[in-house]
Amino acid sequence: MNQTNTRAYNFNAGPSALPLEVLEKAQRELINFRGTGMSIMEMSHRSSTFEEIHNGAIARLKKLFSVPDDYEVLFLQGGASLQFSMIPMNFLNAGQKAGYIMTGSWSEKAFKEAKLFGEPYQVASTKENKYRNIPSLQDMQYDSDAAYVHLTSNNTIYGTGWFDFPDTGDVPLIADMSSDIMSKPVDVSKFSMIYAGAQKNLGPSGVTVVIIRKDFLETANTEIPTMLKYSTFVDNNSLYNTPPTFGIYMLGEVLNWMEEKGGLTEIAKLNEEKAKVIYDVIDHSNGFYTGHASPESRSLMNITFRVADEELEKQFLVEAKEAGFVGLNGHRSVGGCRASTYNAVPLEACQALSNFMVEFQNKHQ
Ligand SMILES: Cc1ncc(COP(=O)(O)O)c(C=O)c1O
Repeated sequence: MNQTNTRAYNFNAGPSALPLEVLEKAQRELINFRGTGMSIMEMSHRSSTFEEIHNGAIARLKKLFSVPDDYEVLFLQGGASLQFSMIPMNFLNAGQKAGYIMTGSWSEKAFKEAKLFGEPYQVASTKENKYRNIPSLQDMQYDSDAAYVHLTSNNTIYGTGWFDFPDTGDVPLIADMSSDIMSKPVDVSKFSMIYAGAQKNLGPSGVTVVIIRKDFLETANTEIPTMLKYSTFVDNNSLYNTPPTFGIYMLGEVLNWMEEKGGLTEIAKLNEEKAKVIYDVIDHSNGFYTGHASPESRSLMNITFRVADEELEKQFLVEAKEAGFVGLNGHRSVGGCRASTYNAVPLEACQALSNFMVEFQNKHQ
């Protein structure tokens, strides 16, 4: 627990920490939202009150992330995982190619879905290196007739991230930014589409953000089910059916909080500082802790590491839990340890973890 209140040091990979200020505001507004006599969850998604919340969240996201005017912002359901299927269903025809850059389990899942619709191929893969790094941009060859190229900007499980994005020329570039969206400024105009489940950096689970360029949207298939067409949501401002209203309200409040923190440039600086205090302990531990990711590909959102001795690693996780650190177990598919330091995780929590890691090493080596 943190000294000043009852909040845990929350390093969960997602759903994950939300800003305390946002939770407190939501608590204050829960029963009677701004004099309406009801909570957001109880009001019509077609009411003017919700319309204001919804459009406000879209406008704030566009402003904070510098989304150009020729893009639509949508709030969908089904998680980032449904996007793995919706993307090829909308944009990949039978016999057509699409390039996938393989940097971890989420890229593999996206690739698997594309096989149901067309001919996806792997532009590059770092699987042989246990996904410790992002492939170098020079090694990537793009088929100029591919429908799109897909990448995962941050690999939540392996703890790697991209610092520069490929130039795919006329081939549309699509990014799954689920675990690092709005953790730093990004040139949105490089992408034809960006998507992300909200539950790491933007709010609670249940909302999926899609940012899509209008001219790309025009190339989508029309003979597919209504609820799986992007155009359905564009044509109805994400209100074709009942949207996840409370999640959209929370997302809007998280964006508000990000604005108050000084926007993405300030948030990025803080994220770098937060990650550094933990990576520094790993790097100065003389091999007691080892990072999974190659240093040049290290994620600023998910810090993956092992404790040299397996028994000691189990003890590390037990003692960390006792000391109030939550969510440090690595993903069930890879084991080890992982500290997820998303936007809402305070620097103080990262410093506390860094101190704990040093003390644990001093006690046990
Ligand atoms: C990079 C990435 N993509 C996709 C997903 C799947 O997201 P969802 O659970 O919203 O379907 C995750 C979940 O952790 C993720 O980290």
